[in-house]
Amino acid sequence: MAARRGAAPAGRAARAAPGARGAAGQRRAGVGAHRPLNVRAGGRATVSGRAGGVPARSADDRKDLLMNIGIIGAGNVGSVLARRLNELGHSVAIAASSTESPRLASAAAAAGATATTAVKAASYGDVVILAVPFTAMEAALNSDVVGAVAGKTVVDVSNPLTEDLMALEIGHTTSAAEAVAGLLPEARVVKAFNTVLAPNHARPVLGGVRQSLPVAGDDPVAKRRVLDLGTELGFEAIDVGPLSTARYLEPVTGLLMQLGHRQALGGEIGFALARD
Ligand SMILES: NC(=O)c1ccc[n+]([C@@H]2O[C@H](COP(=O)([O-])OP(=O)(O)OC[C@H]3O[C@@H](n4cnc5c(N)ncnc54)[C@H](OP(=O)(O)O)[C@@H]3O)[C@@H](O)[C@H]2O)c1
Repeated sequence: MAARRGAAPAGRAARAAPGARGAAGQRRAGVGAHRPLNVRAGGRATVSGRAGGVPARSADDRKDLLMNIGIIGAGNVGSVLARRLNELGHSVAIAASSTESPRLASAAAAAGATATTAVKAASYGDVVILAVPFTAMEAALNSDVVGAVAGKTVVDVSNPLTEDLMALEIGHTTSAAEAVAGLLPEARVVKAFNTVLAPNHARPVLGGVRQSLPVAGDDPVAKRRVLDLGTELGFEAIDVGPLSTARYLEPVTGLLMQLGHRQALGGEIGFALARD
């Protein structure tokens, strides 16, 4: 996929210009140069480096990974992902339901990201992350946004939970991810980050255990890219198969809610896959 460095949102043009330097100071490389990291033969994703932090890599390794990332949704999840991705050197444009959103202003300021409109964030991102409530998805994905993400990797983090967070609105025969893919027929939709509680996107290692990050999708290139982002963020990114596997992933967050609230384990919890 070609890099689109010219499509900077207003206010951030210098950072998005061809050859501009990212927050980490490296020359920003084209997305076409992106290559997978830490993938053992057999395609199993691994992690390396410091516990809880960014896997250690040389500057040369890192510069090939840097991307423009658009995030739609500046709440609990969008704000944390924006900050972490910016810390990793990616260039982030973030949007909310309105450019007047106070959450958008504070998320952008805290992350060092550009606050913009949803369509500009969608146009800007080589990868576009949808961090809006499932119930807001149709409104968020208006025709301009749908057009802007055609052909792109789009990450759906939504969970179709009921308002009290204790049940699913849909499941068994479909998933939020499949519904999103239906709204974005020309995008490469990947399900990821939905099984991690918002603050824990900044804490991949909890109690000395690295959280797993299940990643589901039908497009292998898009899925590889999201697996690599997850690894970069410090998770154990796991390819869990096609997008329809989201039917299993979305209830996982329901279980976390049950554990966190009803079983009083609190919010500093997450899942890890044990294996030999
Ligand atoms: N919270 C968690 O721990 C967690 C964990 C994993 C996955 N998730 C999933 O991640 C998604 C976001 O959750 P959250 O807790 O971050 O939600 P949140 O704090 O309520 O934030 C939602 C964001 O979406 C924006 N938004 C709403 N309607 C929109 C529209 N039509 N167009 C553009 N933006 C719109 C809101 O804009 P305003 O700022 O203008 O209101 C807000 O910035 C949900 O689908 C949730 O199921 C949540």
